[in-house]
Amino acid sequence: MGIAISAAQVDPRVVSFLEKPRQMLINGRWVDSVSGKTFSTFDPSTGEVLAQVAEGDREDIDLAVKAARKAFDDGPWRRLTPSERGRLVWKLADLLEQHLEEFAYLESLDNGKPLTVARAADVPLAVDLFRYMAGWATKLEGHTIPISVPYTPGAKYLSYTLREPVGVVGQIIPWNFPLLMAAWKLGPALATGCTVVLKPAEQTPLSALLLGELILEAGFPEGVVNVVPGFGETAGAALAAHLDVDKVAFTGSTEVGKLIVHAAAGNLKKVSLELGGKSPNVIFKDADIETAIAGATSAIFFNHGQCCCAGSRLYVEKPIFDKVVDGIAERAQKIKVGPGLDAATDMGPLVSEEQLNRVCGYLASGAAEGAKALAGGKKHGDKGYFVEPTVLVNTREDMKVVQEEIFGPVVAAMPFEKPEDIVPRANDNVYGLAAGVWTNDINKAHRMAEHLRAGTVWINCYNIFDAALPFGGYKQSGWGREMGRDVLDLYTQTKAVCTRLG
Ligand code: NAI
Ligand code: MG
Repeated sequence: MGIAISAAQVDPRVVSFLEKPRQMLINGRWVDSVSGKTFSTFDPSTGEVLAQVAEGDREDIDLAVKAARKAFDDGPWRRLTPSERGRLVWKLADLLEQHLEEFAYLESLDNGKPLTVARAADVPLAVDLFRYMAGWATKLEGHTIPISVPYTPGAKYLSYTLREPVGVVGQIIPWNFPLLMAAWKLGPALATGCTVVLKPAEQTPLSALLLGELILEAGFPEGVVNVVPGFGETAGAALAAHLDVDKVAFTGSTEVGKLIVHAAAGNLKKVSLELGGKSPNVIFKDADIETAIAGATSAIFFNHGQCCCAGSRLYVEKPIFDKVVDGIAERAQKIKVGPGLDAATDMGPLVSEEQLNRVCGYLASGAAEGAKALAGGKKHGDKGYFVEPTVLVNTREDMKVVQEEIFGPVVAAMPFEKPEDIVPRANDNVYGLAAGVWTNDINKAHRMAEHLRAGTVWINCYNIFDAALPFGGYKQSGWGREMGRDVLDLYTQTKAVCTRLG
């Protein structure tokens, strides 16, 4: 064990979870990888090893897919009533809620986010998602459809549709909200009756493995959920390409999203993608300025900017530009950066050294292209992967820091003069995940909502998530919508049944 934290600081159940090397969940059992290999997961506030985890690769994925296939084709899972399925998902939510503290600690240690945030947001949102999806298990209805069939005059038909689970689903998730992303993926898959092979991110495999324990405790039949930790290029790629997987659901970079699409072509499996963003956040001069300053600050700095929907391109109407950016910079300077377990911490480290280097590379590129940091602008401290909350001004649309996803606590602010210019500027990006609008003019607000090319538009708020609200991207931010009733379309397929009546 390399746990670098004092046991006194951490829930004792978490300490014992971290002590043993964590295995993978295949066919209802905890097993080592076929190769026997393990990999380390790190505490990003120190860079020290947190735990050892079984390293899945092609052969482990193959075993997991076989288990999921069997559970889907012949297992008791398909014979459960919708009500029984819904109750299992609800039970998983109850168990998760009972173990909230352990999950919050684990999430904070593995990802770096403040414990207070994991407690208040990540775990409760995951609980709520499972409860919301549990309710859908009994409401997956088809239709009866009157038909005319011109070439069989006089014949009568009874036609209806069945809504069936899509089958074995491969789910590949990122590290920014490890537990919550697992819940977004598992909830609808289980509610609709699919079976799953879940591959958590190599940076943050622990909460998905603890969730695996609760899945067994809840009583899901063996093979319904398999959890195979491992790296993207090996385990992830094998899952995306596997010929016996009916659908792949991916959240992560747009670059890897494109690889997933190629990998899926072999058996034309269904694909859903939740990818990157560079979301515009637009503040009009008629907004409630203090509310907008606070909102724009949390829009970029929540989760250390490691949100696909982070409000990273800030557009402020010229007369209030200085006041707004000064206000955000002042707040940024007051953000207490530190380890996630420290109760005083507002913002933890980035998840990994790779992300630290990536974000620092963007800071250097911004400076080289003439951007000026009103707050922050560099790495914080000399241990762990911390970056200062950064507010960049003197930025232009052609700069890399304005065009590309940074995925760190860095906002690029730009003024705009004419309200009619702002829509094309806001839409001038390959991504289209989310957008924010701050104004007290209700007509302007909803006209903006209509014209912004984004899957989510927040008006006078930002980063508001709910299990009932669909989330996903326009343009290169992805395919399909997660959460809400929309996600059910991704996990079901329609069968038309046509009967000729005598
Ligand atoms: P990534 O897209 O490489 O990783 C996300 C997941 O995909 C992980 O589980 C990883 O193991 C898996 N993966 C990687 N390569 C794969 C492959 N060839 N086939 C199948 N699965 C594969 O993201 P990474 O490298 O961790 O972060 C890079 C950038 O991606 C970030 O800076 C950020 O811009 C973006 N990103 C976006 C996220 C989002 O929520 N939309 C989440 C994480 C990263
Ligand atoms: Mg990657």
